[in-house]
Amino acid sequence: MHAPHDHAPHGPSSCEPSPRAEAANGHAQDEPSRTAAQPAWVSARNASTKSAAPGEFRALAIGSLRVWPPVVLAPMAGVTNYPFRKLCRRFGAGLYVSEMISAKGYLRGNRLTRLLADSRPDETPRSVQMYAADPTEAGEMARSLADSGVDHLDMNFGCPVPKVTRSGGGSAIPLKPRLLANIVRAAVKGAGQVPLTIKVRKGVSDELPTFLDAGRIAEEEGCAAIGLHARTAQQLYSGTADWDAIGALKSRVRSVPVLGNGDIWEATDALRMLRATGCDGVIVGRGCLGRPWLFLELAAVLEGRPTPRPPNLREVCAILDEHARLLIEFFGLEMGMRQMRKWCAWYTKGFRGSSAVREALVRVETLEQLHAALARLDMDEEFPMNALRAIRGKAGAQKQVALPHGWLASRDDDAPPCALEGEGDAGFEDEISGG
Ligand SMILES: Cc1cc2nc3c(=O)[nH]c(=O)nc-3n(C[C@H](O)[C@H](O)[C@H](O)COP(=O)(O)O)c2cc1C
Repeated sequence: MHAPHDHAPHGPSSCEPSPRAEAANGHAQDEPSRTAAQPAWVSARNASTKSAAPGEFRALAIGSLRVWPPVVLAPMAGVTNYPFRKLCRRFGAGLYVSEMISAKGYLRGNRLTRLLADSRPDETPRSVQMYAADPTEAGEMARSLADSGVDHLDMNFGCPVPKVTRSGGGSAIPLKPRLLANIVRAAVKGAGQVPLTIKVRKGVSDELPTFLDAGRIAEEEGCAAIGLHARTAQQLYSGTADWDAIGALKSRVRSVPVLGNGDIWEATDALRMLRATGCDGVIVGRGCLGRPWLFLELAAVLEGRPTPRPPNLREVCAILDEHARLLIEFFGLEMGMRQMRKWCAWYTKGFRGSSAVREALVRVETLEQLHAALARLDMDEEFPMNALRAIRGKAGAQKQVALPHGWLASRDDDAPPCALEGEGDAGFEDEISGG
């Protein structure tokens, strides 16, 4: 039995300038070849990635917030609610962003939307991602959240869901730079002293890139940082993220930090992304689904320590149980256990025999049923190497992005898109999730 998860506190480290020596060639570097640079539980992809040198990386400055290590939990609908943020925070340090909260639902006082935006006093800094396509609503929501005590606001301009882009929302907004600027300006004003960041995709498609314009707007309108999910909306979650685009954005955006996002599956990927692109921090999405200890590993490698050994199945199940209890405490038994079902598949991914119990796991209604299903597995099994880089959450093929009729013919227009059907209703966030 090993003890991989002794959680050391992480204070701000030295803030030496980081050498940005490597070219922004993303995935092309560090070809797999196992050398002694990394422990055996790091994949061949990262085996020769050099450890962080003292002072190589700096704390991320988002307005007055200092984030060390420079790691941000990606906003993920149905995932980054308070229970999961609490669990991730227990392992690591960084900034943990809420799932996307729709302005319409929030401003109308929709009960579920308010619950998803909710937090507890132990959460600090508290970070919320907003979705708004209308400047007035963006400003009102930012003001209301700032008044309620949030420490950081993010805005999602990368949503690729057809229902959203078809009406001109989500990733269709950056196609109209004046509209994007108006929404961001109103939100920054509403947020007041609270730092506001934006998160975008590369564009709608390779033919319609928007991220460099978005970077300029972020700087001009007073954003505290810009995050780039380095895929186009058309790509959805397919293919590999284009880290070169993150490097290009970093070389263009001078006055605010640039956060890189896409394909951080192992902590050592963060080292490669930071070095390859020169970005100021990393946003970690699917890699932490069923692996909240990834934040412990990120904190270790960014401080120059070796990647801790991943948990074996017994330890994974203890974390899974903790997660279930947190969800039940926050959402109640029925909703908590319903949410837990997808987590079970992520936590047990790759372990021998997990497919045989999946049937039972997707039906669990109580903690007892959960424990009974898990008891059929071999608890001494080590964390499977093939699960390290296995895609979790969302994958899938490219899809043509639907835009409103005439949207591209009027890119200088700044009229907000029409409201979506069902916008503001309960569960709307889940329907339009993604970014
Ligand atoms: C289940 C799920 C829900 C998501 N919901 C949101 C969201 O609400 N807001 C957002 O900006 N991005 C959302 N995303 C996109 C992620 O924030 C992130 O940009 C994307 O997964 C790429 O990062 P990764 O390769 O590390 O996963 C979601 C992704 C997943 C998998």
